[in-house]
Amino acid sequence: MLEDDLASVERLLKARAASPVDVIPDLSDYIVSAGGKRLRPMITLAAAHAVGGANPATHSLAAAVEFIHTATLLHDDVVDESDLRRGKPAAKSVWGNSASILVGDFLFARAFTLMVETGSLDILGILSNASSVIAEGEVRQLAAQGKLDLPTEDYLAIIEAKTAALFEAASRAGALSGGSEEHADALAAYGKNLGLAFQIVDDVLDYGGTTSVIGKVVGDDFREGKITLPVIIARRRGRTEDHAFWARALDTSRQEESDLARAIHLIRTTGAAEATIAEAEAYAGLAKSALKSLPESGWRTALSELADFCVKRAN
Ligand code: IPE
Ligand code: IPE
Ligand code: MG
Ligand code: MG
Repeated sequence: MLEDDLASVERLLKARAASPVDVIPDLSDYIVSAGGKRLRPMITLAAAHAVGGANPATHSLAAAVEFIHTATLLHDDVVDESDLRRGKPAAKSVWGNSASILVGDFLFARAFTLMVETGSLDILGILSNASSVIAEGEVRQLAAQGKLDLPTEDYLAIIEAKTAALFEAASRAGALSGGSEEHADALAAYGKNLGLAFQIVDDVLDYGGTTSVIGKVVGDDFREGKITLPVIIARRRGRTEDHAFWARALDTSRQEESDLARAIHLIRTTGAAEATIAEAEAYAGLAKSALKSLPESGWRTALSELADFCVKRAN
């Protein structure tokens, strides 16, 4: 359904990643063409169609959203010291941390140029706000690293900021670009809940997925002492001796090689993996419910199926 729109977005991504300055086009092309799922631009496009229609401004908006996402990935792999992204060595492993951060800044700036081209101050406001919220989420997560007793509410606040804010903005801005203020709140609720479901699934895949499926190294969160929902639940359900294990293993200076295997085992045997997936399904359900007020259409169905797709990745 979205083939033509997505092709336009791809053309924009390619054209706007260009620069006469060495390294920028190579690094940008490398990450842009590495094959991301393009989930966020799909949400923008489908949201616009569901409430009116997509137009050239919607394409600029969708490309802006993907550039913001791409910039956060370039920065994120430096922060997380991750070596694999989209099934390939991370850009920072090829060009180094400095280039990865600076080209991330470049793509982020290009996203703002694209937003200006939509001609809408409302859209600019939505995405600039989301951008600062994402950065706040990332910083908040940094402070929560190794914090064993991180409350679930704090975990949720972090993922709402670092991930769901962009899904929400992509969806709300998509609605406005489609010409509908009336459905903007419903689509924002859809995006936010979908973003939460998506990140929760991503967090469980870090303990149970395979590198070939996720295109990232399994156990990256664990190795950096990141407290995510599967860990929170497994720890809460664990026996006393398991508490000592989690305390040591999530302290990165005391972590041992074999700890990841034990963590994965505990997350499975305590039912934490299942409970985490159930939580993601609940948010995906909320996302789908939010669509009920939209006019019935193939686009609305597509948005609903996108929510199913996000949680199916976990099974
Ligand atoms: C990765 O997002 C970052 C998270 C929010 C977990 P995606 O899984 O959507 O990344 P790509 O674009 O498909 O590579
Ligand atoms: C992705 O977060 C970056 C942002 C959402 C800003 P993560 O660090 O959790 O995602 P992956 O696992 O590296 O894709
Ligand atoms: Mg991260
Ligand atoms: Mg990361």
